[in-house]
Amino acid sequence: MTREIIIAPSILAADFARLGEEVAAIDAAGADWIHCDVMDGHFVPNISFGADIIRAIRPATKKVFDVHLMIAPADPYLEAFAKAGADVITVHAEAGPHLDRSLQAIRALGKKAGVSLCPATPEHVIEYVLDRLDLVLVMTVNPGFGGQSFLDSQLEKIRRIRAMIGDRPIRLEVDGGITRDNAAAVAAAGADTLVAGSAVFRGRSSADYAGNIAAIRVAAEAARVAKRQDNSTQLLRAGESARIR
Ligand code: DX5
Ligand code: ZN
Repeated sequence: MTREIIIAPSILAADFARLGEEVAAIDAAGADWIHCDVMDGHFVPNISFGADIIRAIRPATKKVFDVHLMIAPADPYLEAFAKAGADVITVHAEAGPHLDRSLQAIRALGKKAGVSLCPATPEHVIEYVLDRLDLVLVMTVNPGFGGQSFLDSQLEKIRRIRAMIGDRPIRLEVDGGITRDNAAAVAAAGADTLVAGSAVFRGRSSADYAGNIAAIRVAAEAARVAKRQDNSTQLLRAGESARIR
């Protein structure tokens, strides 16, 4: 199933002193979702913000709040993030022993459920929870900080998870070091939802943000079209050789 590309700017790279205005600016600049990176200084070596900040910026946009919880444990806080205005809540597979239970809890709160995998975590950990998922988030850097370099090793994982998802209505999101230069590669591998922090919040004006978002989107969409054409060429070739035989 081919779903439209979603661009989700991470507000970790925004000016925290003007966070509400920054959210409104990326909304106006064409962001599809607003990606909120919650860090606890325990699961990851950095602290960002929690549910109260999310509640404070919720009125700045009507767009989907995509809340990425880099916290352990996550279960005791799910309700607070749901009440604060999260639409998608993503927990890390590595953050607790009962992923199935966490995902059930998110859906019981009426929210979309996501799971995130750190770069070293293999894709098979989600095999038995696929039907509880609305989103899989492949970390393309080690979580904790914005502005790191994309890890090429994750392209194979993206391809494998795309195959595992099959026809299920699950989004495949990538997060970390995404730029206009590697957006094509992740989209060709199967990602349909691209998080970008520093690559979006460059320039500090809404017009700059719009250009940055559009450049990532154009690269990702072009790669998908190229891939479809490539597939149809392969299919045609396969058909031809079948006829010849
Ligand atoms: C990393 C966060 C990412 C990060 C993305 O721990 O989950 O969302 O902020 O920032 P860039 O795009 O700058 O790598
Ligand atoms: Zn994130």
